[in-house]
Amino acid sequence: MSKRRLVARAPAESTVEATHLVLPPDTNAVGTAFGGRIMQWMDIAAAIAAMRHCGGIAVTVAVDDLHFANPIHLGDVVVVRARVNYAGTSSMEVGVRVEREGRSGTASTHCLSAYFTFVAVNARGRPIPVPPLRPETEDDRRRFANAEQRRKRRLALRG
Ligand SMILES: CC(C)(COP(=O)(O)OP(=O)(O)OC[C@H]1O[C@@H](n2cnc3c(N)ncnc32)[C@H](O)[C@@H]1OP(=O)(O)O)[C@@H](O)C(=O)NCCC(=O)NCCS
Repeated sequence: MSKRRLVARAPAESTVEATHLVLPPDTNAVGTAFGGRIMQWMDIAAAIAAMRHCGGIAVTVAVDDLHFANPIHLGDVVVVRARVNYAGTSSMEVGVRVEREGRSGTASTHCLSAYFTFVAVNARGRPIPVPPLRPETEDDRRRFANAEQRRKRRLALRG
C-alpha cells in the first residue's frame, strides 16, 4: 500500500442526503417501489459518502441484511441518508437510512436501513489506505463502536 499522508476526517464530512421522487419506472406490478431501485439509490448514496471520506474511488464489497420494513409508493418522496461510521485500513462502513416523506406535513416514515462496506482502490482495483475516522459527537462515537463490533462479526463470517 502507498505511503501517502492521510488526514483524519469527521463523519459529518462524508454525510450524503439524496432526495428522490418515485416515478412509474421505479415501481413494481403492485405500485410500490421496486426494491432493486431503492438498493441502487442506497448504494449510490453510500458510494458518495465513502468517496468523500477517502477522497478517491471506492467499491462496494459487502452489504449487510436488508429488511423492507414499510412500503414506498408511487409518488412518494424518498430521502436517502448515508455517512461513514467506521474506517479500517482500506475499508469503510457506511450506514444508510431510507425514509419516505410524510404528505401534508405528517412525520417521515423509516422504511429501511443497511450497512455497506466499501474498499478504497487504486487504478488497478487494489485496496489502498483510507484516512482514519475522527468521531466528534456522542452519536459518532456510539456508531463507531457499534461498527467496530459489526466489522468483527462480518470478518469472522467471511472466514
Ligand atoms: C474490494 C476488493 C478490491 C478487496 O480485495 P481483497 O483482496 O479482498 O482485499 P483484502 O483481503 O486485502 O481486504 C481489503 C479490505 O476489505 C475488507 N473486506 C474484504 N472483503 C470483505 C467482505 N466480504 N466484507 C467486509 N469487508 C471485507 C477487509 O476487511 C479489508 O479491510 P481493511 O483494509 O480495512 O482491514 C476485491 O474484493 C474486489 O475487487 N471485489 C469486487 C468489488 C466490486 O466489483 N464491487 C462492485 C460490486 S458489483
